Formats: sequence, structure tokens, C-alpha cells
Amino acid sequence: MKKKIAVIGSGNFGSAVARHVSRNVAQKKGLQNVWRKQVDMWVMEETLTDGRKLTEVINSDHVNVKYLPTASLPQNLVAKPELADAVKDASLLIMVPPHQFVRGISRQIAQMLTPKQKKEIICLSLAKGIEFDKKKKVIRRMSQVFQDETGVKAAQLAALSGANIANEVAADMYADTTISALSATVRKELFGLFNTDNFVVELSTDVTGVELGGALKNIIAIAAGVIDGLGYGNNTKAAVIRAGLIEMMKFGSFKKLGHVAQKETFLSSAGVGDLITTCFGGRNRMFGEQLGKMWKDNPAAAHTVSLEQLEADLLHGQKVQGAHTAEEVYAVLKAFGLTKAFPVFTSVYEICHKRKDPRTLYRH
Ligand SMILES: NC(=O)c1ccc[n+]([C@@H]2O[C@H](COP(=O)([O-])OP(=O)(O)OC[C@H]3O[C@@H](n4cnc5c(N)ncnc54)[C@H](O)[C@@H]3O)[C@@H](O)[C@H]2O)c1
Repeated sequence: MKKKIAVIGSGNFGSAVARHVSRNVAQKKGLQNVWRKQVDMWVMEETLTDGRKLTEVINSDHVNVKYLPTASLPQNLVAKPELADAVKDASLLIMVPPHQFVRGISRQIAQMLTPKQKKEIICLSLAKGIEFDKKKKVIRRMSQVFQDETGVKAAQLAALSGANIANEVAADMYADTTISALSATVRKELFGLFNTDNFVVELSTDVTGVELGGALKNIIAIAAGVIDGLGYGNNTKAAVIRAGLIEMMKFGSFKKLGHVAQKETFLSSAGVGDLITTCFGGRNRMFGEQLGKMWKDNPAAAHTVSLEQLEADLLHGQKVQGAHTAEEVYAVLKAFGLTKAFPVFTSVYEICHKRKDPRTLYRH
């Protein structure tokens, strides 16, 4: 029996990745014997301004007009408004919602999996962020959140992360990425599914490092954007990015935090590659730039601005992951008495959530 792929999440990156994978299963040599041609994508249903449903538009016009209007989607990608329909019979779940929704969605999925699926399903997590349980002082990466809720084994988990800004992936511009999994079979299978001439996959066994790199760089991207918005130069921005990379690596290797990432992973696409692209493009940088501009041009407004409003005005439904992640990482640092050891992470938290003057960013 051929295996079914379900993409869970249909935002900007969710749609870009669903497009890539659907096209590969339809066209790439050797995949048709293994995978079903139809790929299902769960779409949280929305009614658009013209009264049409988003799933209907995707399935009839083959474009996600709300989250990825610049690219056409393959005909074998089918939008499903019901999560259960997408999950039914799936062998591979590509989990790509904004990270704050991963636990809730995973909890629902747990109710939908058959015992066979529970034993065999592979979950490839693309969501970038972490969760912190303040009571237990435990960090959970997004693949672990899925594991907590569904009870699958660690060998069934994988993560993909890299310098992969969605609109560029969807425009078929060259990019590399990192896929990590503990199981060699899973790594091989995912390599076959994702690797192409212009989306080049490198494999890793360091799931921790790959997921932490993807989550933490969004905090640094906000810092880089703030520097842009304040009108400081590239030297200042480079100084902040460099300090940020050091903090990412330090956070990843702190045994006290209950995890150990490999240092080399921070030199992969999931580490410095993603950090660079996000600090120059991407929505977290843009969000930081807007904050920096406000501090420069209208500090009174910067003192009172609502982050949710700023996010809505700037991104029209897309989510800024870095501000959430800064809050979660700050809770970790506070719980372990480490805020002083991570000045960039701490400053970004304070700028976003405590309205702190952002010029503190380059003073360490
Ligand atoms: N956009 C990128 O360039 C990019 C690149 C790599 C990784 N990522 C990661 O991929 C993940 C998804 O990002 P994206 O760009 O596809 O999403 P997005 O920011 O475009 O988010 C919008 C999506 O969130 C969904 N959503 C809104 N409210 C929801 C709710 N209450 N419950 C469930 N879903 C809800 C919407 O239906 C929509 O599909 C994130 O973790 C992000 O960090 C994004």
C-alpha cells in the first residue's frame, strides 16, 4: 500500500513546503512507488473578504491567496478543512503550524491516530519555537511536544530547519536545508522526498540542535531588525548577530537546561544559514525594524504599542514567532538564573514585552 503524506498547517511556509513535496511525489523519479500522489493539507478554514472559503479557493484556483499568493500550487495538493480528514491514513505528518498552536493540534491528532498509525507514523516538525514548563523547569522542542501528546517513539520524530524563507522556496530559488532524525531509515526516506537540485538537503542526527537553531534565530532576527529600524549601520548589526550566534550556541550546550546540541549544527543551514537569512529578510526582522523605527521617530508610541496590533498591521495573519520565543527563552533564563549570561536574548524579551529602550542591544 502506498503511503500518504499530510501537511498540517497551511500558512506561508506550510504552503511553500506542501507545494515542494506535492510536486516531488508527482514528478521525482522513484517516489511514485512509495507515496500516494495526492497530498492532503489541513487548512484552518477561513472566509475571505470576497465571501469564499480558503479551502475552496485552494482546491479550485490552486493558490493560497491569503498566505502564499505568489505561487501556484500543484493539482495533487488537496486542502482539507477537517483535521481528521487530513490525518486519516497518513504515514507522514509534516507539522508546520506556528509553534504556539503545535500542542493543541497534536492533542487533537492524538485522538485521531489508529493504534497502527501511533506505532508507525513519522512526524517531521518544521515549526520553530520552544515551550517551557515553569513548574517542572523543562524545555520542550516542537517535535517533543508532538511526542508528549501522541506518545510516539523518539525514532518516529524528525525536524527540518534551514535558511528557507517561504516566498523564496516557493519561487524555486536555490536553498539548502537540514533534516535530522534519530532513525537512519527515516533520514533516508525524508532525503528522498525533499532533496532536489534547488532544495538541497543535508542530513543530521542532532534533532536537538536543528530545532533549537530554528527557534532561537528568530529572537536574533528581531534584534537585527531593531538595529535596522534605529538606522544604525551594518557593523552594529553584525556585532549583534555575532553576539546572538554565541548565545544560540551557549543555550544549546547548557547541560543544566536538560539538552545538549552539537556545536557543528550551528554551522549548518539550520544554524548560521538560517540566522543570516532571517536577519536580512523574513518577518521577524521586519517586525523588529518597525519597533526600532518607532523608538527612533515616536518613542511615546513605542512605549504603548500593542505587539498583537503591530503584528496584525504588518503581517495580515502571519505570526511573529520571535517575540513568543523571546518570552519563552526569557522564562528559561530567569528560572535558571542566567539572564546576565544571555544579554541579547534578554534585551529582545525586554524590548518586546517590557518596552525597554532598544539602544541597550549593542551595549555589551
Ligand atoms: N514563513 C517562513 O518563511 C518560514 C520558514 C521556515 C519555517 N517557518 C516556520 O513554520 C511555521 C509556520 O509558519 P508559516 O509561515 O507557515 O505560518 P504563518 O505565520 O503564515 O501562519 C499562519 C497560519 O497559522 C494558522 N493559524 C492561525 N491561528 C491558528 C490557530 N488558532 N490554530 C491553528 N492554526 C492557526 C493559519 O491558519 C495559517 O495557516 C512557524 O513555526 C515558522 O517559524 C516559517
